[in-house]
Amino acid sequence: MHFVRRFFLAALIGALCAGSAQAQVKEIERTGGPYVPTPQVVVDQMLRFGRVGANDFVMDLGSGDGVIVLTATRQLKASGMGIEIDPELVRLSNATAKKFGIGDRAAFQAQDVFKADLSRATVVTLYLLPAMMMNLRDKIYNELRPGARVVSHDYHFGDWEADDRITFDVPEKELINGVPSATLYLWTIPAKVSGRWQIKVAGTDVSRDVDLKQNYHAVSGALPNARGMSITDVALNGEDISFSIWGNASVRHHYRGKVKGGAMSGVVNLDGKDAKWQAERVTIGK
Ligand SMILES: C[S@@+](CC[C@H](N)C(=O)[O-])C[C@H]1O[C@@H](n2cnc3c(N)ncnc32)[C@H](O)[C@@H]1O
Repeated sequence: MHFVRRFFLAALIGALCAGSAQAQVKEIERTGGPYVPTPQVVVDQMLRFGRVGANDFVMDLGSGDGVIVLTATRQLKASGMGIEIDPELVRLSNATAKKFGIGDRAAFQAQDVFKADLSRATVVTLYLLPAMMMNLRDKIYNELRPGARVVSHDYHFGDWEADDRITFDVPEKELINGVPSATLYLWTIPAKVSGRWQIKVAGTDVSRDVDLKQNYHAVSGALPNARGMSITDVALNGEDISFSIWGNASVRHHYRGKVKGGAMSGVVNLDGKDAKWQAERVTIGK
């Protein structure tokens, strides 16, 4: 629990910075951890890592003084919203947005993160304690649209492995929490594909059942009614899916496509020629 102690040491420093605001919010249940602002250099890197641009709607869960959403809206022309349990920090963040003339694109709301509607977000940012990360994991997985990105500072989602991570030196964090570096984690929300799919290839008599099992980003497949055949290399990135189906004579057909709810479509290379394929989900899996 060493890291939690360090986090609280940082909270103490954060409290000193926040001044009298902290005194008024003693009774607030900060289940995600205390107010510890992410240093600007880390904020900049988080937004780069999440590929934030003008078309994005960034939601920071536990937004503190608003630095992440304010930077995304001021510097990258994105829009966004911060969700923060401490009304004093929310007031401060909204006042800063107004001062910078970006109040129409950056808003902050006093709310528990569990009550926030995440469906608008194309990017979610987090700097919350490990237990909160785990408690929020399924909400984030289920509410965000496929292809949305999640960037977290220092803490991760356990066995929902990140698609990418970076660690870099941040000397000023030594003073704040005793570690002079930051680690960032990046996830892309995958489409939900568990269940039985029926695939048909246009212009052929190919019609095949495929069973897909999903654990967050990890997907495996089986061909229930095709003896001697197999499916391998199932890869899912947001809505983009690909897999290989191996025929009886070790012939490999590589399928690439997009998932849109209960339908998929794409292209498969059959004997040197591209053919279109489509699939519909006939049974939803767990
Ligand atoms: C470590 S600070 C991060 C602040 C900001 N995201 C940043 O990176 O600079 C965590 C923030 O989450 C807020 N928080 C804790 N639990 C919360 C909850 N259940 N709902 C909303 N905000 C919460 C705290 O008040 C604190 O401001």
